Amino acid sequence: LLMYLLVFLLIPSALAVSCYDSTTKSSCCGDYCYAYRSNYVDNSTIRETGCLRGSIFRPFIGKCLEDNDESYCFCDTDYCNSPTARYPEWKHGTLKCGQTKGCISCEVHRSLSGSLATPRCGSFFAKSIEIVMQTQSCVRFQISEYDNKLYCLCDTGNNCDTKLIKAQKLTSNKVTCLMERSGKETCKGDFCFISQWYDLMSVERGCITNNETLYAGLYQSGYANFLGYQYILCESDKCNKDWKTAEKSADIKEPLCHTTTITTTMSPSEILEADFQRQWNNLIYSLRNAFSDIMWRLQG
Ligand SMILES: *[C@@H]1O[C@H](CO)[C@@H](O)[C@H](O)[C@H]1NC(C)=O
Ligand SMILES: *[C@@H]1O[C@H](CO)[C@@H](O)[C@H](O)[C@H]1NC(C)=O
Repeated sequence: LLMYLLVFLLIPSALAVSCYDSTTKSSCCGDYCYAYRSNYVDNSTIRETGCLRGSIFRPFIGKCLEDNDESYCFCDTDYCNSPTARYPEWKHGTLKCGQTKGCISCEVHRSLSGSLATPRCGSFFAKSIEIVMQTQSCVRFQISEYDNKLYCLCDTGNNCDTKLIKAQKLTSNKVTCLMERSGKETCKGDFCFISQWYDLMSVERGCITNNETLYAGLYQSGYANFLGYQYILCESDKCNKDWKTAEKSADIKEPLCHTTTITTTMSPSEILEADFQRQWNNLIYSLRNAFSDIMWRLQG
């Protein structure tokens, strides 16, 4: 059981929210707050809380970014991500995607050569910038000469993803962006992006093109961070040259919060357990994915 002790020290400021942060056992300042639960283990217990930034997450406010195993529920008022707050209930998955049943949503991607990946339950495990996708959207991501994939995510019916992806011919010449870590090659798209995961060793760079007819405004220029990832999307030629150039191009503002101190009585062992639980879920999930992949190949 978690119990929070609050000490408020209010100083007038703007636009940002203060949130519970289970990692630091304190508070954080962001554009939005999130609360994490593992549906696979227990669909009602909040196991992790924190902050995130980025207007691209706005459509999730009051909702959960959700796959079969995990939910990240987003809200936008001070300390709205209390572990005891009410969040949207987990939707039981009923869809069939390829050979997999019981999915909340279906996801598929097609490579440049035209080969379709194994359709599967929509999942945000091991995702980077694709995590922002919402149901009924298709997006092309190009990060290298060889890695140029079109993703579709949907929940309108069994195997909706394979139907949806057939109709896609997404290309865009709006901006020229640099690709790969070295940034020597270029691609064309609606947006350029640069992302990093925790440190600068895992920089990714490339182009994003969204099907605006399906989901208008899914991606927007600006800064976003979530789960150790940081992203900048920008809209001018080669604006993703490096982090500094992208920051300037996207006109990023730091969120300003009321100065607030929070301490929690969540013990170190409880935090460790929550962390272990999440890693364990990810492991189980990837094993199940690998298994369904094999089954699909055997049957297909
Ligand atoms: C949530 O978990 C409870 C207890 O395990 C279970 O009875 C319930 O059906 C679950 N809800 C959904 C929507 O799966
Ligand atoms: C966008 O999606 C719609 C619906 O699937 C499709 O008809 C249309 O061709 C797509 N647009 C492009 C540019 O691929």
